[in-house]
Amino acid sequence: MSILVTGGAGFIGSHTVVELLNAGYDVVVVDNLCNSSEKSLERVKEITGKEAKFYQVDILDREGLEEVFAKETIDCCIHFAGLKAVGESVQKPWEYYNNNITGTLVLVDVMRKHGVKNIVFSSSATVYGTPKTVPLTEDCPKGEATNPYGWTKSMLEQILTDIQKADPAWNVILLRYFNPIGAHKSGKIGENPNGIPNNLMPYITQVAVGKLKCLGVFGNDYPTHDGTGVRDYIHVVDLAEGHVKAVQKMAENPGLKIYNLGTGIGYSVLDIVKNFEEATGVEIPYEIKERRAGDVAVNYADATKAREELGWAAKNGIKEMCEDSWRWQSQNPNGFEA
Ligand code: NAD
Ligand code: UFG
Repeated sequence: MSILVTGGAGFIGSHTVVELLNAGYDVVVVDNLCNSSEKSLERVKEITGKEAKFYQVDILDREGLEEVFAKETIDCCIHFAGLKAVGESVQKPWEYYNNNITGTLVLVDVMRKHGVKNIVFSSSATVYGTPKTVPLTEDCPKGEATNPYGWTKSMLEQILTDIQKADPAWNVILLRYFNPIGAHKSGKIGENPNGIPNNLMPYITQVAVGKLKCLGVFGNDYPTHDGTGVRDYIHVVDLAEGHVKAVQKMAENPGLKIYNLGTGIGYSVLDIVKNFEEATGVEIPYEIKERRAGDVAVNYADATKAREELGWAAKNGIKEMCEDSWRWQSQNPNGFEA
């Protein structure tokens, strides 16, 4: 069985390509490399001893995509390609709506023209908005997104839902990720943000490796056990395995499905700092700053549905997440650049 992975050179995509190759799938990657390096796919080959076919194609480029579908036999698409920086999306809403929404519309159109009607889509816990209760189940109402990036995820969920409703030959799985961190155990692939990281774990690892001086903790007056924001951090390899399970179960469980991929455990910012220091022995200086606009106090998953229907559960705890994030960063202080 052959899987098209859009955005397969990126952080979650490259880890998923490893798990797909290890599980025996043929993999075709389409990525325009706007936020990644082809080196990640060379590392995937080092890890697995197998190769994914790579096309440097933009999903907005209909002709380029058509060529890939004409050349390759594709059974299913895992669709990661998208822009994901929350702050940037506020500055560049047109670019985010065009890339994420138009890109997906083009992809889906090319898929259906070639008779490929199986898609796994990267959604996000951000679609829940400000949670009224936690843990969040898939039945919890979607909320107001606080930025254009979040709206693209929410709108794309709706678009794919409507497409499946209109044509039940489509199988659509919407995976709502919580906070992916960690890296492959080999230390060969990991998160490689451009510029100063927006997200907590890459910021911490860059402080640890000496590239940044001090972590800013965004607010210590939230209604949580220590006042700092609580999130459900999930190891990226567990997340990647969730995609393999989704592809495997699609045939048994057709139609439209929505799953949270999280651990069900919430950690505060200061819990993460403490766990990172314990796991690595590296001290992380921090200072308390103002709350960051758009942040919610607490967000964690109820992942029961994924366990019951996909037979998937996260295996790695916070210690492994910290150790593996650090192994990647310390072995590759400049990411994929030498
Ligand atoms: P990433 O930026 O590392 O990967 C996305 C990949 O898509 C990159 O390799 C980029 O070059 C590619 N891409 C972007 N636009 C493209 C286009 N028009 N054509 C072709 N390729 C394109 O990000 P990631 O963290 O691996 O995220 C993967 C997906 O998961 C994204 O859709 C993201 O929104 C979603 N997601 C991520 C998180 C997170 O915290 N990392 C959380 C929830 C959802
Ligand atoms: N934080 C800091 N300092 C930093 C960075 C983050 O204190 O330098 C805090 C935030 O305030 C928050 C927590 O760490 O309380 C996690 O923040 P991240 O930026 O790492 O992650 P978010 O929960 O804001 O968002 C992430 C992705 C989104 C995705 C969401 C899904 O960035 O794309 O998870 O839950 F939608």
